[in-house]
Amino acid sequence: MGTGRKIAVLRERASGEARVSATPETVKKLIALGAALHVESRAGLSASILDEAYREAGANVGQAAAVVAGADIVLGVQGPDIALLSGVAPGAWVVAGLDPFGQRARVDAYASAGLEALAMEFMPRITRAQSMDILSSQSNLAGYKAVILAADTYGRAFPMMMTAAGTISAVKCFVMGVGVAGLQAIATARRLGAQVSATDVRSATKEQILSLGAKPIFVENVAGIDGEGAGGYATEMGEEYQKAQGELVSNHIAKQDIVITTALIPGRPAPRLITDAQIASMKPGSVIFDLAAPQGGNVEGTVADEVVEKHGVKIIGLSNTPAHLPADASALFARNLFNFLSAFWDKEAGGPVLDAEIGDAIRLTQGGRIVHERLLG
Ligand code: NAI
Repeated sequence: MGTGRKIAVLRERASGEARVSATPETVKKLIALGAALHVESRAGLSASILDEAYREAGANVGQAAAVVAGADIVLGVQGPDIALLSGVAPGAWVVAGLDPFGQRARVDAYASAGLEALAMEFMPRITRAQSMDILSSQSNLAGYKAVILAADTYGRAFPMMMTAAGTISAVKCFVMGVGVAGLQAIATARRLGAQVSATDVRSATKEQILSLGAKPIFVENVAGIDGEGAGGYATEMGEEYQKAQGELVSNHIAKQDIVITTALIPGRPAPRLITDAQIASMKPGSVIFDLAAPQGGNVEGTVADEVVEKHGVKIIGLSNTPAHLPADASALFARNLFNFLSAFWDKEAGGPVLDAEIGDAIRLTQGGRIVHERLLG
């Protein structure tokens, strides 16, 4: 290894991807651990980071082939195409958001090439891994951006304004799904002056909604379940609950100006929260931002990366919302990767050595095979 592990940072090639997996800050910190950093030319451009800044941080900047040649670790926001990785060291790590179910063929190719693919979105939701959690860091920014984009599309102002020409009333904003993105959406809408309400299937979120100054809208007195499954995630709800939730939401939604939906269930398509009939009940000019668009959408009729107008209501969804805040999204994503690598950096080994709890959770491929239980059988 000589000068230490070689870490490669490639320019993202997926359409619409404007983020980068390392910043000058994390480059410096990785070099301080003893690694040699190689960054592809123009890798940071869409996140407003110039090659020069990477050079000043101590990285070698070059073309893709030179960057990956002999690399021990390849970092990415999304998984790099296998064609880019010929020439990496045997058993090299690929550390990125790998979309293991959506990009199964690519994961199979990593296995065949003998690479060790580590899916950062499978990071367990345990306290010590919080700083490595790309889903949280990116969802947080997405929740913010959803409100900003909805506000921009909406033909009225958010806050109440008393002017000489008359009073403008505050918008009513309803947030459906109060995980990381939903909490940030509530906070952002409040800061803009909206009257905010929110709902979730996990009753634990009620307190969080109240503490942000918003109104909880919850199904009460339905038997059984509080909606919380493994790892703090939601579970799929029973029929009785879904019916009660549908009625509650129908009554509420008709009075809303802005709706932000963020509901996800891990490993499942996004739950349908808003039907066409419910959209029709809303006032013309209302805006729905569907953050679940990449997972199929919470709203009937969402088309990713388009503004769909139905019954006078605009429905927005992006396939990659965090990429619309590329500088901050990259800064946080890069820190997640650095926090991960540094937490496991073993001075004697001269590189990261994973423990079983996190290694088994995120490792998809090893020794030429798929090893992750969710991808086997
Ligand atoms: P997510 O992105 O998987 O889902 C978003 C929200 O949608 C969740 O709150 C979920 O309960 C809700 N939802 C699902 N189905 C719904 C339905 N039919 N109607 C209404 N809402 C529905 O969730 P996210 O943001 O990833 O967070 C999930 C949990 O994990 C939270 O409790 C969060 O605080 C926790 N967490 C823990 C971390 C750690 O300890 N390292 C890191 C990040 C999150």
